[in-house]
Parts: sequence; structure tokens; C-alpha cells
Amino acid sequence: MSEGLFSPLQIRSIRLRNRIAVSPMCQYSCEDGMANEWHFVHLGSRAVGGAAIVMAEASAVEQRGQISPADLGIWKDKQIEPLQRIAGFLKAHGAAPGIQIAHAGRKASTDVPWNGGKPLTESTGAWKPVAPSSLAFTPQHQAPEELSREQIAVIVSAFAAAAARALEAGFEVLEIHSAHGYLIHEFLSPLSNNRSDEYGGSFENRTRFAREVVQAVRGVWPERLPLFIRISATDWMEGGWTGDDSVRLAQVLKSLGVDLVDCSSGGTSLAAQIPLAPGYQVQFADRIRKETGIATGAVGMITDPVQADNIIRNGQADIVLLAREFLRDPYWPIHAAIALGVDPVIPQQYVRAYK
Ligand SMILES: Cc1cc2nc3c(=O)[nH]c(=O)nc-3n(C[C@H](O)[C@H](O)[C@H](O)COP(=O)(O)O)c2cc1C
Repeated sequence: MSEGLFSPLQIRSIRLRNRIAVSPMCQYSCEDGMANEWHFVHLGSRAVGGAAIVMAEASAVEQRGQISPADLGIWKDKQIEPLQRIAGFLKAHGAAPGIQIAHAGRKASTDVPWNGGKPLTESTGAWKPVAPSSLAFTPQHQAPEELSREQIAVIVSAFAAAAARALEAGFEVLEIHSAHGYLIHEFLSPLSNNRSDEYGGSFENRTRFAREVVQAVRGVWPERLPLFIRISATDWMEGGWTGDDSVRLAQVLKSLGVDLVDCSSGGTSLAAQIPLAPGYQVQFADRIRKETGIATGAVGMITDPVQADNIIRNGQADIVLLAREFLRDPYWPIHAAIALGVDPVIPQQYVRAYK
């Protein structure tokens, strides 16, 4: 077995068949936060395609934490059953079933992207978003309600309850969404958090909510199962969250039982100048991995098998997560294996296509 993209990886009791993960991707296709046939086929086909982890999209831990009313939800028990069917299928086809739990904070209450993605209005069903501070994401967005300490504690509990539901649904990898300018990231970044209590100001205070969420989630998520966190490793903004902050946070998260830091970036401000290019965020996964010793995931404009293989071989990350490339090709791992000269894992039903 090679040490590259197709080498297995053990995290706690879970053995990943390769280093390829389907990055969480909102499908904006739910009613009342319920997974349905779309999610079953969408996620299921990527397990058939050979991914090691198929991560279900950002799933709201409370209803007002949905980005749009069509987001997947995991805030009530009724939402477990359709997820259970999906997780069972993913596992049966060799993928570790994963799910990302999330709260959109001040970026909640928007329309689905194909209707423009704009903030909802009263007539289109807007609700009041919540955030660390009453600072609107853009002038078009509502100013969110500033969370009280009591309200913060309720959301921490909602993350833990969501983790318990994810477990009941049969997921084996749990990812906490702490990136892209959503609630947890809003606490981290000085650009969206101007609180003067113990949740704002110093690094220690701005990271408190993230630490509380991780601790509460780890408390219900079993020892035997991996816990990931996605962070925005930088805001790409003067005065914002930085790469140095991320290294420091990763060190703390490691001590709290996080197994892997999934390194994305941006999302706090539309004014950020992001140097988009193939693999532009790999540097963060590389640095955090080297400086803290925690496992990392690289994501962002990874599309080419040799590029992905090199990231793993060079020790820049432990896994790669692909998003849009998996929308273009659900069977990317099969095609990547063939391109790299590795024996592909092909479902028996499809073998005749490769003879
Ligand atoms: C349709 C779509 C939905 C997404 N939804 C999520 C999400 O639910 N959670 C998340 O952390 N990132 C989300 N992202 C970001 C991706 O997971 C990924 O980080 C980003 O697209 C960069 O990777 P790529 O260049 O491989 O597409 C989404 C991206 C797309 C294209």
C-alpha cells in the first residue's frame, strides 16, 4: 500500500479506506430540516464513488441557525430517521458516514442561492438571527440580536444534543462548523465580536464559546469516534482572525479531544481579498499539522489526483476534502486511483465499465 492518497488512515476506531473526503455541501433541499431522497442519492452516490468519508452538509443545531429555510437540520428527534437511512447506506458502501453540525449566526435567514441568496424579508419569512454582537454581516443583512450568556449556554447544549442525534443516526465522523463567518467563527473573529464580557476581547475570551461547544460535544460523542472541526484559518482581513490564532486554537482543541482540524478560510467579510488558486488553503493545514501535531484536512480548489496525492505524500495534510469536484464527478476517487496507477475500488455492479 502506498503512503499517498490511497493509503488507509486510522482515527480512533475508524479506519478510513483512503484520504479522500466529500466536503460538506449544503443542498438547500429540505423541508423543515428533514433529509430526503435527494440527500440519500447525492450522498449515497459519493460513497459508491469511493470516498473514505462522505460528510453530510451543515446541519442546523437549532432552527434559527439555518442559513436558509431549506437547510438540513438536526435540532429535533424527528430529523434522525431519514439520516439513519443515509448513514447506513454510506457505511454499507465502505465510507465513514460523517455530518457537520452548524449554526449560521448572523448569516442566517437568507434565501436559497438559486433564488439569489439574499437576506429574507418579513414577507418572505425572515427570522431574527443571533450573534455575539449586534453587527450585521452586510448593510443588507439584519442586525442580529446579541446573545446573552444564558442564550449562549442554550446553544452550547443544542450542539451537544445535535451530536447525540448524529450518533443515534449512525454517523461515525462528526464535524463542528466553526468556519465561514458562521456563529462559532463570529465569536472567534474580532471583526464580528465586540463583546466586553468573558466571551469577547482577549483570545481566551473569543475562543471560549468554541471551547465550550467542543467540550459539550466531546462529552456526548463517544471516545471511539473521531471529532473534526472546520475552521477559517484566516479572515484574510486586517484586524481579523489570523493564521497564528489558528495554530494557537488548534493546540487547545487538540487537548480537548478534537482529532482533526479541517482548514478552510474566509467568510467574515465580503471585503476580504482571497488569493484564490489551486490548493490555496493547503498552507494552513500544513502549518497547523507541523506546529501542533494535530491531524489536518486540506480543502479548497483541490481537483487533480496528482495534486491531492502530493498533499498527502508531502505531509501537508492527513486528508483532502473536495467539494465542487465531487459535484462534477461523484466517482472522483475511482478515476483518481486509475490516474495514479492504484487499483481502484469499484462496486461490483459497475465493474464491467472498467474491464
Ligand atoms: C454547494 C456548496 C455548498 C457548501 N456547503 C458547505 C457546508 O455546508 N459547510 C461547509 O463547511 N462548507 C460548505 N461549502 C464549502 C465547501 O465545503 C468547500 O470548503 C469549498 O467549496 C472549497 O472547496 P472546493 O474548491 O473543493 O469546492 C459549500 C460549497 C459548495 C460549492
